[in-house]
Amino acid sequence: MDAELEREFDRVVGAEQRIEPRDWMPDGYRKTLIRQIAQHAHSEIIGMQPEANWISRAPSLRRKAILLAKVQDEAGHGLYLYAATETLGADREDLTRKLVEGRQKYSSIFNYPTLNFADVGVIGWLVDGAAIVNQVPLCRTSYGPYARAMIRICKEESFHQRQGYELLMTMMRGTEAQRRMVQDAVDRWWWPSLMMFGPPDAESSNTAQSMAWRIKRHTNDELRQKFVDMTVPQADALGVTLPDPELRWNADRGHHDFGEIDWTEFWQVVGGNGPCSRQRIEHRRAAHDDGAWVREAAAAYAHRQTDREAIA
Ligand SMILES: [Fe+2]
Ligand SMILES: [Fe+2]
Repeated sequence: MDAELEREFDRVVGAEQRIEPRDWMPDGYRKTLIRQIAQHAHSEIIGMQPEANWISRAPSLRRKAILLAKVQDEAGHGLYLYAATETLGADREDLTRKLVEGRQKYSSIFNYPTLNFADVGVIGWLVDGAAIVNQVPLCRTSYGPYARAMIRICKEESFHQRQGYELLMTMMRGTEAQRRMVQDAVDRWWWPSLMMFGPPDAESSNTAQSMAWRIKRHTNDELRQKFVDMTVPQADALGVTLPDPELRWNADRGHHDFGEIDWTEFWQVVGGNGPCSRQRIEHRRAAHDDGAWVREAAAAYAHRQTDREAIA
């Protein structure tokens, strides 16, 4: 029986069709997806913090409105993704507990501080830009609810990327001090952005299986290269220097060569020792505790509605 189900699963995946919640799936596939989608959801929610830091200090009403909308989008992304994990049988309360107890990860990029307002622009340009490169292929991932959530998320991410770039363009046309702020932010965020694609292929233990299941469509190094090639001309247009002396066009490869990433730093941050790691988790824990009354009230309300329906 199981062999037959497995053959059907392989056929669906091989034919580029979607696996849906009620379909049979291998245990490992379900576990991998729950882990990946939960990490992704956590990243969206934790990712609200570094930028929210600037909402109250945005330099104009227009910038405040844009930033508010963007941070709110990220909350929505978290919501779609947590809902996608629920279709796999995961429990949201349990995932949140795992996050605040440090048993599940989120993207290490959000453990870096946002020191000036140009960081908001650079996060939009580089961090949301890298997220797009990572996530566009996920619109074709083999699990239906995840793929569908990603289509909507990617549309919003492209707005995030453009608002960041437009903010930086505006600052680059401003004063010398503003240009210095942009360059400083680029210097600090460039390398962590490259780390967003994960460890090099040779050290990425989950890649091969995820590619076979068509959860993942490209390797970490392929996506990283794509991001570099896409970003270099944008940096030129902006008039900033990417902080890598080894970055240059390689005509033979048809790609840009770039310097070695500091993997020691990467593993440090992934291991929970980033500059803001503790602060991010503490904040998330406090926000979750403060929201307990909202969850209780919503549950009580939902309960009463079902009671009423039962009487009617
Ligand atoms: Fe997002
Ligand atoms: Fe975003």
